Amino acid sequence: MGLPPTPRDRGSLRQLLTRWLSGPLIALIASSLLASYFIALYVANDAYDAALLDPALAIANRVRGNGGRLEVDLPSIAIDALRVDTKDRIFYQVQGPDGSIIAGNARIPPPPARLPPPQHLFYNAELQGEPIRVAGKFVAIQAQTVLVQVAETLVKRNTLVKEILLASALPALAIAIAALTLSWYGIGRSLAPLERLRDEIDSRSPRDLHAITEAGIPMEVRPVVRALNQLLSRLKAAIEGEQRFIANAAHQLRTPLAGLKTHAELARREPTSPQMRSLLDMIAEETDRTSHLVNQLLTLARAERGAGPDAGRQPLNLHEIATRAVQEWVPRALAKNIDLGFELEDTWTLGDPLLVRELLANLLDNALAYTPSGGAVTVRTHELDGRSVLEVQDNGPGIPAAERTRVFERFYRIPGTATQGCGLGLAIVAEIAERYGAKVELAEGADGSGTCTRVLFEPLAQHAS
Ligand SMILES: Nc1ncnc2c1ncn2[C@@H]1O[C@H](COP(=O)(O)OP(=O)(O)O)[C@@H](O)[C@H]1O
Ligand SMILES: [Mg+2]
Repeated sequence: MGLPPTPRDRGSLRQLLTRWLSGPLIALIASSLLASYFIALYVANDAYDAALLDPALAIANRVRGNGGRLEVDLPSIAIDALRVDTKDRIFYQVQGPDGSIIAGNARIPPPPARLPPPQHLFYNAELQGEPIRVAGKFVAIQAQTVLVQVAETLVKRNTLVKEILLASALPALAIAIAALTLSWYGIGRSLAPLERLRDEIDSRSPRDLHAITEAGIPMEVRPVVRALNQLLSRLKAAIEGEQRFIANAAHQLRTPLAGLKTHAELARREPTSPQMRSLLDMIAEETDRTSHLVNQLLTLARAERGAGPDAGRQPLNLHEIATRAVQEWVPRALAKNIDLGFELEDTWTLGDPLLVRELLANLLDNALAYTPSGGAVTVRTHELDGRSVLEVQDNGPGIPAAERTRVFERFYRIPGTATQGCGLGLAIVAEIAERYGAKVELAEGADGSGTCTRVLFEPLAQHAS
């Protein structure tokens, strides 16, 4: 209810075209068979009528006038010869001018027309309910017109018609089957570029909005591709505008937030009441949190921006990235009494060092935030199954399997998570990983507890320097 009617589904193009082709093809074959039938009938009659006229002529020669009476002088051997036919039965009849039967079978129907002698005619009739072909010959004997009729059943003629029909139907059928098969494959071949187009669109990441190439696309489909490309370019502009807006807004917020923080710190140094001091502490803390959110938003916008296959790629050693993180994160681990360990091997990939460092920072931030004091966090880099791996493992509370997809959503935090955060950390990790075609796996630690986040980057083997 309320939905506009959807246009009728036309099914596959291949079915549509085959349907369009097979209708006319069947009509064509039917009319060609009909034409063949009439030609065959003509040929059969033409051939056998001449043969049927011969005995009529022979009998006509045997009609004599005996005084006023007419009689036929047929030797019995000739009558027997007439009756012998391998397939058909043959009848004859001689009729006087008054319609009296002079000789032969008396039931051959009269001809539709009466012609002057010495003419003859052929016609179809029925004898005892059986269809027959009749040759009628008019002869003048002593100024009287005598009609000689020879008739035969239609077995030979029908057999010949059937044979001719069959001989023309078989090639027609073969041609029809060949045409349908060829067009079925031909249509498949012509639709192949469409399938390639579909594959190209299917295999794209949602961030990849560059134009689809028109090369190899059939002319008829190009307008669709062009329209699609225009849509892609408008979409790209809209998304870029939005990202710019977020980046600008975040950037604009940074300065006033820094000012707020400074002023709160300055105010705290002034002599003031304990209540005021605690309020100022809260302001400073919330300002920190807001600054963190703004920085995360900026990072996200930066990770998204210009995301393309080759944007911001340079060879980098994950070992070095992790080593740099040591100085930054060890103090925080010490403060929380967490044993922060590093197991690093050289392993190379292509990427922007700033972004990969950001990715690691978010993983470390989570590990240190959610692992209780006294726990352990380990950073590892190595090669695994031909991939370059960056891995952070902790022995904290772990992430339930049911939440392992949702935690990558923006602003999503597992309900009940106490520590401060804005829910953007893993979204940033996913964004950066996707940008470099890396895969992020969330699992528990080797002993079944805690969290192990593993990022599998594309390897870069030749850079072992
Ligand atoms: N190492 C971890 N151990 C336990 N829970 C984690 C860990 N990392 C992430 N999480 C859970 O996933 C949620 C999303 O993480 P994240 O996107 O970094 O947002 P934030 O840390 O700001 O809450 C967190 O709120 C937390 O519940
Ligand atoms: Mg986080």
